[in-house]
Amino acid sequence: MITSRVSSFLILSIVSIFATNNVEGSQPVLQKTVESLFTERSDVTYPGSCKVLVSSKKQTKMCKREPGISKILVTAKQQAIAACEETFQYDRWNCSLIYNKKSKRSIFKKIYRETAFIYALVAASLTHAVARGCSSGDLIRCSCLGSFQNDTHLRGGCGDDFKYGKRFTNNFLEWKQAGNDQIAEILKQDVNIGIDAVGEQLKEVCKCHGFSGSCTTKTCWKRLGPFNSAMGLLKKHYHHAIKRKLVNYTTKRAITPKVRRKMEIDRQKLVYLQKTPNLCVSTKGRICKDRHNCATLCCGRGFIVGKKSVSSRCRCRMVDCCLVKCDTCVEEVDFYTCK
Ligand SMILES: *[C@@H]1O[C@H](CO)[C@@H](O)[C@H](O)[C@H]1NC(C)=O
Ligand SMILES: *[C@@H]1O[C@H](CO)[C@@H](O)[C@H](O)[C@H]1NC(C)=O
Ligand SMILES: *[C@@H]1O[C@H](CO)[C@@H](O)[C@H](O)[C@H]1NC(C)=O
Repeated sequence: MITSRVSSFLILSIVSIFATNNVEGSQPVLQKTVESLFTERSDVTYPGSCKVLVSSKKQTKMCKREPGISKILVTAKQQAIAACEETFQYDRWNCSLIYNKKSKRSIFKKIYRETAFIYALVAASLTHAVARGCSSGDLIRCSCLGSFQNDTHLRGGCGDDFKYGKRFTNNFLEWKQAGNDQIAEILKQDVNIGIDAVGEQLKEVCKCHGFSGSCTTKTCWKRLGPFNSAMGLLKKHYHHAIKRKLVNYTTKRAITPKVRRKMEIDRQKLVYLQKTPNLCVSTKGRICKDRHNCATLCCGRGFIVGKKSVSSRCRCRMVDCCLVKCDTCVEEVDFYTCK
């Protein structure tokens, strides 16, 4: 009895934290889901069938119907965070959740360029993880999209079900029920950009069947690359994102035909609403890739050159016919830290 009371209190307080963090708009589930998938970097589990997040009614139902999803959500979360940190390792913003230690403002409080990127990233990661879950057999409501030859029962391979991943992501993020307001439109577009970035990674893979590799019959299927391969495109979107102003109409934030026409123009771009705060205060102590990178990352404050030892395999040779033996070489290399 006591434990159940405690846990429901926990849920309520988590929900209310999210509620206060939300930017204005009619997309609380979308905002809460993206935020929790990007924020929670430990392995905490919540009560309920989705486990890695405090789920909405509809999400709970989806997780119950497809028990493999909670594992997929963990994958989506981990690969989104890992890919972000790797890709932005040498950028002024390094995927941290606050811009600087002083302001402590969460990047989810507003829709900054980085926030828009995270919406796309999380949507992309979820789409990718679900599509992969279909081909790996982790999910039961979709299956591998193989190409089968009807007559010979030749099986080519297992395709990733991108369409299912896309549909699932759209449903899970619940923006289909979007209110007719400008913020909803912006978030929707950012999510779509992310999903499409994954779709563009679909590649056809073929296998030949027949005597000694002669291609008498061929089976083909569609596979997604590793999630990281979508990151180049997503980062391009981050750099080319456009800032939009909310149009202040007396009828709340309703979208008039005129506003809609303007919005059509930049359908292919990430959209954000607020200018990113100055990130330079946050880069003290960051490691740069090289001197050139330091010039940007350290914002002109300069950098400290240190030495570190890097060990690697070297002087590799064959011994006893088929064994490769290597030594370990230690090399001193420079590294640069922002002042
Ligand atoms: C494949 O075989 C099934 C019966 O086994 C048949 O109903 C179906 O039409 C066939 N599909 C094609 C594309 O030939
Ligand atoms: C729209 O205008 C009203 C009144 O003029 C103002 O109170 C409100 O802050 C404005 N909203 C935005 C988003 O600019
Ligand atoms: C990002 O940078 C901040 C300092 O600005 C640092 O505290 C944090 O550990 C960095 N995060 C990663 C993932 O490197």
